[in-house]
This record gives sequence, structure tokens and C-alpha cells, in this order.
Amino acid sequence: MDRILLLICILLSFCGLETLAANAQKWRSRSIYQIVTDRFALSGTRYNTSCDPTALRYCGGTWQGITEHLDYIQGMGFDAVWISPPFTNVEGFTPFGEAYHGYWPQNLTSYNAHFGTVNDLKNLSASLHSRGMYLMLDVVVNHMVPPTPINTTAFSLEQAGANPKNFSSGVAPFTDVSYFHKPCWIGNYSNQTEVEQCWLGNETMPWADVNTEDAGVAGMLSQWISKVISDIGVDGLRLSTVKYVSQSFWRTFTNQAGVFTMGEVISNSTNHTSPYTEVMDAVLDYPTWFKLVAAFASPQGNLSSLVDTVTDSQKSYESGAFMTGAFLENHDQPRFGAITNDSALRANAMVWPFIYDGIPILYYGQEQGLSGGEVPNNHEPLWRAGYNTSHPYYKMITSLNLARKAATSSGDYFLTTPVKFFRSADGHTLAVSKPPMLSLFTNVGQNISSFVHWNVTQSVFRSREQLVDVLTCREHLSAENGGVDIVSTNGMPKVLMPVSVVKGSPELCPQVRSNRVTRQLDYSTLWSLIAVPFISLGLTASFA
Ligand SMILES: *[C@@H]1O[C@H](CO)[C@@H](O)[C@H](O)[C@H]1NC(C)=O
Ligand SMILES: *[C@@H]1O[C@H](CO)[C@@H](O)[C@H](O)[C@H]1NC(C)=O
Ligand SMILES: *[C@@H]1O[C@H](CO)[C@@H](O)[C@H](O)[C@H]1NC(C)=O
Ligand SMILES: *[C@@H]1O[C@H](CO)[C@@H](O)[C@H](O)[C@H]1NC(C)=O
Ligand SMILES: *[C@@H]1O[C@H](CO)[C@@H](O)[C@H](O)[C@H]1NC(C)=O
Ligand SMILES: *[C@@H]1O[C@H](CO)[C@@H](O)[C@H](O)[C@H]1NC(C)=O
Ligand SMILES: *[C@@H]1O[C@H](CO)[C@@H](O)[C@H](O)[C@H]1NC(C)=O
Ligand SMILES: *[C@@H]1O[C@H](CO)[C@@H](O)[C@H](O)[C@H]1NC(C)=O
Ligand SMILES: *[C@@H]1O[C@H](CO)[C@@H](O)[C@H](O)[C@H]1NC(C)=O
Ligand SMILES: *[C@@H]1O[C@H](CO)[C@@H](O)[C@H](O)[C@H]1NC(C)=O
Ligand SMILES: *[C@@H]1O[C@H](CO)[C@@H](O)[C@H](O)[C@H]1NC(C)=O
Ligand SMILES: *[C@@H]1O[C@H](CO)[C@@H](O)[C@H](O)[C@H]1NC(C)=O
Repeated sequence: MDRILLLICILLSFCGLETLAANAQKWRSRSIYQIVTDRFALSGTRYNTSCDPTALRYCGGTWQGITEHLDYIQGMGFDAVWISPPFTNVEGFTPFGEAYHGYWPQNLTSYNAHFGTVNDLKNLSASLHSRGMYLMLDVVVNHMVPPTPINTTAFSLEQAGANPKNFSSGVAPFTDVSYFHKPCWIGNYSNQTEVEQCWLGNETMPWADVNTEDAGVAGMLSQWISKVISDIGVDGLRLSTVKYVSQSFWRTFTNQAGVFTMGEVISNSTNHTSPYTEVMDAVLDYPTWFKLVAAFASPQGNLSSLVDTVTDSQKSYESGAFMTGAFLENHDQPRFGAITNDSALRANAMVWPFIYDGIPILYYGQEQGLSGGEVPNNHEPLWRAGYNTSHPYYKMITSLNLARKAATSSGDYFLTTPVKFFRSADGHTLAVSKPPMLSLFTNVGQNISSFVHWNVTQSVFRSREQLVDVLTCREHLSAENGGVDIVSTNGMPKVLMPVSVVKGSPELCPQVRSNRVTRQLDYSTLWSLIAVPFISLGLTASFA
């Protein structure tokens, strides 16, 4: 929609968009913990149940298990939880394994009994709300998976069309094949009509493609989602397989839902993702994710290309990069720990989703350093790793969430100020400014033989202001002109904020609260002492 028209719509509170806008605003300040329900927590004390992700079977995680572990999630500073699709899925061991992840819906009007009862789900929602936290449901409307086994030796698309009733028996609310697109497999991903109307899956396990262009079907889905939202108490939706469904369907559906909607469009190009930001509140920031992983996978990564992609999304998305789902890991992609075990690169990549314009999303288990690769290895049972609140990553994530909260309440318009990048010529360092926060990244890695040097000459802070790196609670002093000049020898990132802002959060770096006069390390001074003798050994970046 034209931006000016949208603005008029909001000002005059018509066009049916006002609820959507309000709910997106409420999500803007949130940070989300993503859960694969079957793998996050067993209820009670059955923690020793074995679970082999490669077996592709249900492992026993439940909604009640999540409810029992909300302290663990909230303790990290998250105030929203995204859970697996909760509806009844195809039962039994299919050629692709069991539907433990929830993405093969069969009956949208009933809930997946493997995860507990509908009351357990309502209880999870109520428990979240009593803590001031939000519930995000993952929903799939693109396809339904009919009961298996269908006649796998005989299945053909023609047959599915010829035997409409028994093909879709058990599927609800779409009880026969007339609710689905005419069968065909997606072969050409450049043909968007084909992507939207043909089927995913294959002959042994067809995913019947719901005819979402049909007004009757769209109406049923709109009514259905409204009922789910009010029955369960849902605050936001994560929309699955968005690019397989037409934009006009999404416009109607998201308006009807009336809660925050964030869509999955797997693409490395903002050209492809940006049109969807006009028909839903936000997309998962996949284009940035591709570049983020590449940027910190090794010291050869390209930081400049990461910056270009974020800049593209700031320009081309309906709400800028604000409210996009910012993530490093999810259930569909290898965990970052499977890509590199370099602790410095991992720390840099982990910080990223928390310091730019999007809503940070953490995939369960990242806080325990899980490192499973491609699906299904990245669906580890968290109970095997334990719920260790002293894990260094758990603590790091906690600090980042606290820092965001402190920044948000500092009065510096943190949530509405787009990030600005200061690039360096060396290609291995980057400074990211989002007042009152300045984040410093490097992809030199942990085995750095000399040092990196961030020389930010712009005045991002007040002159000689006392700063804290919230990841280490070390103090620094800004330069005379409000820039920063910092040397590091461990390849780790830094997230700097003024002490005055950090003090706004009682739990963040409590040691800087004491009125000590000694400064732990004043790198500006240190730098002037060591700069000359060491300059030929390291990277010296000036940011213009
Ligand atoms: C699991 O715990 C139960 C109860 O503590 C115990 O009886 C059982 O042997 C344990 N199983 C395994 C595999 O550790
Ligand atoms: C959720 O269930 C537990 C028991 O499992 C109960 O103690 C608690 O009161 C319920 N909470 C809500 C909000 O219904
Ligand atoms: C499956 O289809 C084949 C070929 O049409 C047929 O011969 C066979 O009897 C069918 N099997 C079942 C279990 O219906
Ligand atoms: C499927 O439909 C065909 C034709 O309508 C019928 O002959 C067949 O018995 C049905 N199969 C099942 C398993 O219901
Ligand atoms: C779908 O679930 C509802 C609610 O449990 C149930 O009444 C209905 O029979 C189910 N539909 C099918 C086709 O199994
Ligand atoms: C795929 O679709 C595109 C766009 O519709 C079309 O230009 C192209 O020729 C198709 N490719 C093949 C191999 O059919
Ligand atoms: C795109 O796919 C649709 C549906 O399969 C087909 O009708 C159409 O001819 C295709 N267009 C091109 C340009 O290949
Ligand atoms: C469909 O995909 C499954 C899972 O990858 C595979 O086991 C099966 O052989 C495939 N069937 C066909 C007909 O390609
Ligand atoms: C996006 O579209 C612009 C303008 O059409 C084009 O210049 C650019 O190359 C495209 N980028 C990608 C990644 O496709
Ligand atoms: C996206 O990925 C495709 C295929 O891997 C590649 O050709 C293309 O250059 C990538 N585009 C961007 C913007 O990185
Ligand atoms: C990094 O990516 C940018 C495009 O974003 C490109 O212009 C530049 O050449 C790349 N640098 C290297 C070293 O590959
Ligand atoms: C930092 O950058 C400024 C401006 O480019 C330069 O004048 C200054 O010498 C640099 N400082 C160091 C220590 O390299």
C-alpha cells in the first residue's frame, strides 16, 4: 500500500488497519524465544527420556513442560515465546518421519495430543500473560497432509483428483479435494503462479495445497484463526511458507487475525521479501540471516555485504527494518555452532540480532551452546543439555536483553532510531550505532595473533563519557569528541552504553553501580601508549 495512504488510514483509523498497527507497536520492544515444542521440555521430572533427533520421532516435549520452565526463559530476559504449530498433524511414521515439528497439519480444528490437552495450551497462554509475556503461534495454511499411508505405490495426482473423498478423509475443515488446488508439483521456482498453486511434498507424501485464492476457503481460514486467537489467547502469529500463498490472501488473513504477524519468506534478496511487508506486519529477516552467517563463518566473511543487506531492508520494507524477525538460528537451518566452533566468531554472530532494528529471536538451545547441523540434527532435546542458567551463553543473552531494556527506557528513542553503520576499510571490523548503544564487531576470530582496533571518529557519545561494555562489564571512556577508540586482542564483540544508561537496569553489570573512581581500563590512553610500537601487527580501522 502506498505509504501516504497508509498514514492517512492510521490517522483516520479506517481501512481496518488500526488494530494491526497497534499490535505491531506492542511487539516492537519484545524479544522472542523460539521453541520446538516436542524438544524443549518434558513435564514433571522425566528428564532422562532418551531422544535421538535423527530418529525423526516424537520425543515427548509438551506445553505443560514449557509452562514449567517459564522461569528459565524469562530469566534470560525474553518476554515472548514462539511455539511449534499446535494443531493435529498427520499421525504415524511417514516417509519423512513423524510430524513432531507440527508442520504437517491434518485437522485445524483440533490440537496435537502429543503436546498435551487444549487446557494445557490455554494454561501456557495464561501463565505467559500473568508474567507479562506474549504467546506467538506458528501457523501453516498453505497445505494439509492427508492421513498416511495413502496408497504409496499407486498415488498419482490424477488419482487424487479422481477419488476426492477418500484422498482427504480425516482432513479438516477441508473435507474434500475441491478445497485444494488441482494437483501438480512445484518444478519451476521462478514461476510464482506455480509456487503458489502447485504442491509441496512428493508422490509418497503429498502436501495437498489449499486453494487459498478461493473466497470461501479464505473466509473459512479467517474465521478459524480468529477463533483460535480468542480461544487460546494468542498475541502474535508466525506465518509459515508465506511465499507459497498469494499476497492478496495474506492481506485479508492478517487483517482478520488482528494480531502481530511475522512471515517466513526464505530468500536472500530483499527484492523478494519486501512486497510481503505490505501484507503482514513483518517478515523474518532471512536476507540478513544469509549475510550474517557468511560474515562471521570465518575471517574471510564479508561484513560489508551484511551492512548492504540491512540497509536494503531499511529502505525497502514497509516499516523499515523495524519489527523484522532478527535471528541467527532456527529449526530449519544448521545451528551457527555447526558452522564454526570459533568462540569469538560465535559471540559476534550471536550479538547481532540484539543490536539492530529487528525483534530479536533466539532459537531454544543456543543459550546452552547446542551445535546441531542440518535438520533434524538441530532439533536436539533441551533436557539432555540441561537448563543451566550459569552457561556463559545464557548469561550473555541475559545481558543483551537487559541492555535492550535499559536502552529502551533511556529516552533515546532506541526502538525507533534506525541503526547506522560505520564501515572500515580493513573489512574485518564494523561499528553499529543505535543510540544509546554502540556495538563493535570483528570477524578476525579467536586465534588473533595481534589486535584489532576500532577507531570511531564520529561523536556517538558525549565527550569523555564513561561507557560500559555490557558483555564484560568493563568500563571504557569515550574520546574527546565523543567517538571511541578501542583495542582488543581476543576477537570478541563489544556492546557499549553509557554508565548512566546501564544504571537504569538494576541487574545489568551491578559492579558499575558502585561509586568507584578507578577506571578499570581506559583504552584511549592505553592506545596512545601502544599504538606506535604495534601498529604494523594489527588491524587499525578508522570509520568514516
Ligand atoms: C530414568 O529415571 C528413572 C527414575 O529416576 C530411573 O528408574 C531410570 O532407570 C532412568 N533411566 C535412564 C535411562 O537413565
Ligand atoms: C496451570 O496449571 C497448573 C497445574 O498444572 C495450575 O497450578 C495453574 O494454576 C494453572 N495456571 C493457570 C493460569 O491456569
Ligand atoms: C495400491 O494401488 C495399486 C495400483 O493401483 C493396487 O494394485 C493396490 O491394490 C493398491 N493397494 C491398496 C492397499 O489399496
Ligand atoms: C477410494 O475411492 C474409490 C473410488 O471412489 C473407492 O473405490 C475406494 O474404495 C476408496 N478407497 C478407500 C480406502 O476408501
Ligand atoms: C477434527 O477435529 C475435530 C475436533 O476434535 C473433530 O470433531 C473432527 O471429527 C475432526 N475431523 C476429522 C476429519 O477427523
Ligand atoms: C520458469 O518460470 C519463468 C517465469 O514464469 C519462465 O520465464 C521460465 O521460462 C520458466 N522456466 C522453465 C524451465 O519453464
Ligand atoms: C507458470 O505456471 C503456471 C501454473 O503451472 C502455468 O499455467 C504457466 O503457464 C506458467 N508460466 C510460465 C511463463 O511458464
Ligand atoms: C519422497 O521423499 C521422501 C523423503 O525424502 C523419500 O523417502 C521418498 O522416496 C520420496 N518419494 C518419491 C517418489 O520421490
Ligand atoms: C533488486 O532490484 C534492484 C532494482 O530492480 C536491482 O538493481 C538489484 O540487483 C536487485 N537485487 C537482487 C539481489 O536481486
Ligand atoms: C542469492 O542466492 C543465489 C543462489 O545461491 C545467488 O545466485 C544470488 O547471487 C544470491 N543473491 C544475493 C543478493 O546474495
Ligand atoms: C563484499 O560484498 C560487497 C557487496 O556487498 C562487494 O562489493 C565486495 O566486493 C565484497 N568484498 C569482498 C572482499 O568480497
Ligand atoms: C583515528 O582516526 C582519526 C581520523 O581518521 C585519525 O585522525 C586518528 O589518528 C586515528 N587514531 C588512531 C589511534 O589511529
